[in-house]
Amino acid sequence: MDVERLNARAAEIADRETKIWLERTPGSAALYQRAVKVMPAGVASNFQGNDPYPVYLKAGKGSKVWDVDGTEYTDFHGGFGVNIVGHANPKIVEALKKAAEEAVHFAVTTEPTVALAEELCKRFQVDQIRFVNSGTEATMDALRVARAATGKDRVVKMEGSYHGHHDALMFSVVPEADALGLRDKTGGEAADASGSAYTTEPTSKGVPKSMWKDTIIVPFNDLDAVAEVFGEHGDEIGALILEPVMMNVGIIVPKDGYLQGLRDLCDQHDVRLIFDEVKCGGTIAYGGATERFGVKPHLAAWAKAIGGGVTIGAFGGEADTMNWVTKGAAQQGTFNGNPLSSAAGLAALTEVLTPEAYDYLGKLGTMLAEGCDRVIESSGIPAHTVDLGAKGCVSYRDKPLTNYRDFLETHTENYWASYPWMVNRGIFMTPGDEEQWTISVQHTEDDIAKYVDAFGEFCQELTK
Ligand SMILES: Cc1ncc(COP(=O)(O)O)c(C=O)c1O
Repeated sequence: MDVERLNARAAEIADRETKIWLERTPGSAALYQRAVKVMPAGVASNFQGNDPYPVYLKAGKGSKVWDVDGTEYTDFHGGFGVNIVGHANPKIVEALKKAAEEAVHFAVTTEPTVALAEELCKRFQVDQIRFVNSGTEATMDALRVARAATGKDRVVKMEGSYHGHHDALMFSVVPEADALGLRDKTGGEAADASGSAYTTEPTSKGVPKSMWKDTIIVPFNDLDAVAEVFGEHGDEIGALILEPVMMNVGIIVPKDGYLQGLRDLCDQHDVRLIFDEVKCGGTIAYGGATERFGVKPHLAAWAKAIGGGVTIGAFGGEADTMNWVTKGAAQQGTFNGNPLSSAAGLAALTEVLTPEAYDYLGKLGTMLAEGCDRVIESSGIPAHTVDLGAKGCVSYRDKPLTNYRDFLETHTENYWASYPWMVNRGIFMTPGDEEQWTISVQHTEDDIAKYVDAFGEFCQELTK
């Protein structure tokens, strides 16, 4: 396939579809004008922004959402992987109503919070957990506990991984291709920083320079790179954190044996292995990545789907690591274990997201991925799909990805054409080629067919 021609065609489609988008969303344009006066970029979080303005939503029910212009969409955005219970799920609504009448907030632990902790321990096979309010806090606190338990400050993370926006892990999240080069280990400023063969690149202005040297970058799916870094700096490294399946670069699955290999290396070097299951925990299996890949970390962090749509986060793991929380590792927060979040989380995990629900999500996910695969094959575009139950994606690269550097080779032009195309045709998607679809238990086969049809028409248009 002539890639240059495809890119030119994608650019034409993106241009045309963006104009259609702007014409049909006057309500969002007007709300943006209000919002931008009081919030930078007119949104509550950078991830909610869009150029020239985002589509603002006002309601959701089942698998559908409505924007402020009243346009209906089938939701595959899923609130960045939160909404696998679907919108206004009756079980969650009932739990929230009851909690609102009994206990909105005390900053005192309540019985539902204890019950939710029990459920999380059972499901994710850990001894103990603590609550927080977001994925960012979950990885931040897990990292602190790992450092406390080992008495070592440095942390290893994967190139291209996102673990929330706290300083220690805001390095090499989406490094530009020209910032990737192998580190010069022989001297100079580069060698002063982390000492890994991979550049530690800050992802945000405002991250203190003093922190750079403590965050060491390695490529995903490469055990040798970790062995080498542990060999050289193991006596200074307290934690290795990763998403067991990378979900902020499309989706990259771990090679066979990789996760167990990491666990073994961590055990050998007294490093705590932290699985960031913020995205994959509640979505890819009843028991998250631990169940799906059969490997237990020392610590794991969860958020998003475990709260049934309400603000939540948690981290937990083996008792001999978690008990550092009572031996000097600060772990606190006014809203931790908030009754509303606990009620919604408990209803989500015990009444909605049952093992049968994951079977259903698995069936729909495979239907969606296979439908897109058929379209990709008949159109001949360089793309592939990944199917992990409620989560999956189309990646615009002919071969599966093994690490972040592969992600840089995806044909983003196709993504930037398909995104407005799909949204204009009633498929609400995440803005960003690093994201993926989220399916809820309230989605139907009909919803899946809508996605596949819209994607099929897009591929036809692209290759016309
Ligand atoms: C893997 C991963 N970890 C952590 C976070 C941070 O979670 P939150 O946005 O709830 O702070 C995210 C957010 O997308 C994430 O994808």
